[in-house]
Amino acid sequence: MTKQPNLFWHPSAVTAKEREALLKQRGCVLWFTGYSGSGKSTLARALERKMIDAGHLAYVLDGDNVRHGLNAGLTFSDEDRRENLRRVAEVAKLFADCGIVCAVSFISPTRESRRRAREIVGPDRFMEVYIDADLDTCETRDVKGLYARARRGEIPDFTGVSSPYEPPEAPDLHLRTAARDVAACADELLAFVQDRCLR
Ligand code: ADX
Repeated sequence: MTKQPNLFWHPSAVTAKEREALLKQRGCVLWFTGYSGSGKSTLARALERKMIDAGHLAYVLDGDNVRHGLNAGLTFSDEDRRENLRRVAEVAKLFADCGIVCAVSFISPTRESRRRAREIVGPDRFMEVYIDADLDTCETRDVKGLYARARRGEIPDFTGVSSPYEPPEAPDLHLRTAARDVAACADELLAFVQDRCLR
């Protein structure tokens, strides 16, 4: 990032600790990663529902949605994916600073982009959640019909087909969605969040 010599940082009058005390939770970023169709959005939304129902504030940043607005115009080239994830990490950091549990649901295919996201958010608040369904399973599900189109050569740089995915080596939480149903995975996710982010 280039230095901005004419800009000054204005410290907030309210601390993150005060906002967290108000919400009775810790601001956290749950950084989901996995193939398209692995269940990231489904689980992020299930978590958000459960948390709101239990009186806690959570918010989902979803790849497809963010690419309609903030990141409209970015492609799926390596460079644009990097920029996509850098911006989202900055936004997620703001949510965590507000005291919100922010579930970030993007493919995030490279270890380097996830490492940078952890660095931007800060390691104390960042948790990597691997939504693990193998490519065959995701391709069989093909909820959006995109794998079939990618195989026909209609979508360039499609993750798993013509663009790589690097699975996490040591995720903070590893959810295997191919073998278990959504409810069981969502319960495990909520238990993890209760342990790490709620009080
Ligand atoms: S990321 O690689 O930059 O993290 P992101 O999560 O924002 O990806 O977007 C992934 C979503 O965009 C997929 O779930 C799918 O619906 C859609 N998509 C469109 N084109 C591609 C592509 N070439 N590769 C992967 N996903 C794509």
